[in-house]
Amino acid sequence: MRILVLGSGAREHAIVTALLAEDAGHAITVAPGNAGIAADVPVVSIDPTNGALVAEYALENAIDLVVVGPEAPLIEGVADPVRTRGIPVFGPSKAAAQLEGSKSFAKRIMHEAGVPTGRPVFAATLADATRALDDLGAPHVVKADGLAAGKGVLVTDDRQAALDHAAYWLQYGGVVVEEYLDGEEVSLFFVSDGHDVRALSPAQDAKRLLDGDAGPNTGGMGAYSPLPWLDERWGSEAAFVREVEELVALPTVRQLEHEGTPFVGLLYCGLIVTEQGVRVIEFNARFGDPETQVVLPRLETPLSEVMLAAATGRLAEAPALTFRAEAAVTVVLASEGYPENPHTGRVLHGVDDAASLDGVSVLHAATGILDGELVATGGRVLSVVGVGPDLRTARARAYDGIARISLHGGQHRTDIAKKVSA
Ligand code: AMP
Ligand code: GLY
Repeated sequence: MRILVLGSGAREHAIVTALLAEDAGHAITVAPGNAGIAADVPVVSIDPTNGALVAEYALENAIDLVVVGPEAPLIEGVADPVRTRGIPVFGPSKAAAQLEGSKSFAKRIMHEAGVPTGRPVFAATLADATRALDDLGAPHVVKADGLAAGKGVLVTDDRQAALDHAAYWLQYGGVVVEEYLDGEEVSLFFVSDGHDVRALSPAQDAKRLLDGDAGPNTGGMGAYSPLPWLDERWGSEAAFVREVEELVALPTVRQLEHEGTPFVGLLYCGLIVTEQGVRVIEFNARFGDPETQVVLPRLETPLSEVMLAAATGRLAEAPALTFRAEAAVTVVLASEGYPENPHTGRVLHGVDDAASLDGVSVLHAATGILDGELVATGGRVLSVVGVGPDLRTARARAYDGIARISLHGGQHRTDIAKKVSA
């Protein structure tokens, strides 16, 4: 298959790695990619948010499948011109991507579909927000309504901080004040063709910058899969996945279909498992980063076939996805100053050494080549992935890998998957 992947993160490197692992002779191109992706497959410098250019490139190059990695191009509507030209695309339309791009849209869909989520109060003014904060009480959850690059959500006991956050994001549109939900977080992905869904295996992401879940929210500092504690609570991973499919994924996909905006692509269900049951905290319209880095290495079913079946409305004919009985752990290396103000341009050492270890792979996010050297070009620089027969082994491998890599001022968490590796 001739596949064009849009994006430049470790998530896209993980997608490319999974496609290459199929050994099916796919011709894969990535736009724009990064230094690590460019070492594996050809890259082209097309702006992934430019739908007209992407569609033209896909037509000229007889692309069989376009896979959209990040949210920004989806929310800009990159999938629409590609789909209009008859090219299968794995990624929702601009209209359906509102599920990620607008919290109020997502809450409305959940409401219509009867999907369990934290009670939201929409605020258009600071007076509304203040009332909502006082009605709902602490801990306070305040979310920017639109896309905010990981900075839109504040969870705090500090009423003044919650008000300041609301005031800041009100300048850019509305905010949502939400009921606080307590419990373990799960990221569960579903492939959707607009009508049917197929589940992947759950993962857990570490969103905070520092060990012990301290510090600011980030795009994600590490992840692991599978989640052994789900088996204890639900009897099996399959039982949990079935429940989320019935309670969350299918009703959401069917509601969007009913409204004439079918969701074709990857539905990311961000969940909290509370004492009262599963609740949605957010939807994303694409694979999670870094969760993808631990889910795809375990996927047995060929990824290209699943994505093509979804993109062409044939998921009903596809069997359930299967996963190897292996575990994976990823640790993200971030630049000094991330997430506020990352220092870039610094040289990375030891990447090849880490990648040569048994069961270790290094997926690149913000890397480039400068004067012949591999350098960090952004906040989250790379994801070191360890795979093994169990979480303990996978974790040890990921940390052996990251120990070989040096980046001046680089930051990583030391406690990813620690509590499940005892
Ligand atoms: P989001 O960007 O929506 O994923 O939110 C970022 C993080 O904020 C989540 O991963 C949760 O840890 C936390 N969060 C979001 N909504 C809630 C909520 N209603 N209750 C508790 N924590 C939340
Ligand atoms: N890791 C969280 C996300 O991809 O949104």
